[in-house]
Amino acid sequence: MKFFLDTANVQEIKDMVPTGLIDGVTTNPSLIAASGRDIKEVISEICSIVDGPVSAEVTATDFDTMLAEGRMLQGIAKNITVKVPLTFDGLKTCKTLSDEGTSVNVTLCFSAAQALLAAKAGATFISPFAGRVDDMGGMGMELISEIVQIYSNYNFSTEVLVASVRGPQHVIQAALLGADIATLPTSVIKALYKHPLTDSGLSAFLKDWEKTGQSIL
Ligand code: E4P
Repeated sequence: MKFFLDTANVQEIKDMVPTGLIDGVTTNPSLIAASGRDIKEVISEICSIVDGPVSAEVTATDFDTMLAEGRMLQGIAKNITVKVPLTFDGLKTCKTLSDEGTSVNVTLCFSAAQALLAAKAGATFISPFAGRVDDMGGMGMELISEIVQIYSNYNFSTEVLVASVRGPQHVIQAALLGADIATLPTSVIKALYKHPLTDSGLSAFLKDWEKTGQSIL
């Protein structure tokens, strides 16, 4: 399973890349706003730090302007994935850009029917927002399960990129369902490796080690 980092904070990306855990980055207009930086500048910097796909989202809502924005974003770096919303114009933009050889992430997906359309429009990635479905009292992981099954039934190459991930259980459930990717905020990556038994075990080992008076170096 691939992990993308869901942030536009360059320092968080720089801190996480050396772990080898990060296969790409996703951003959205809210994350760019939170970074306080110019979109082209910050996306360009992220693309120079990360080898894998970096999603940069269009902000227009009509086809012509979305397409122009998508082409502009795509020109920033080789590893750009253009992110478009799951609207009628977004699907048209997805089809045109993917026919041009651009990687496209179709975002704001909340139903299996929407995911089916995105795959038919040539999406490279579909982003179902599992956490936001849960927030509304729905079952985010049922949505992931349906999409994984439908894509498998028809051999679609579109990758399922689980978004809006709230915690380790989402990651484990998505992995059990065979989702291709989860995009994770830094807080969720930290929650994945943190375990109280690891901390208490380490502290007991170090206490015993201190008694030996030895040093490895
Ligand atoms: C990533 O592609 C999505 O925009 C992001 O995961 C949304 O997460 P949120 O629901 O926590 O804002």
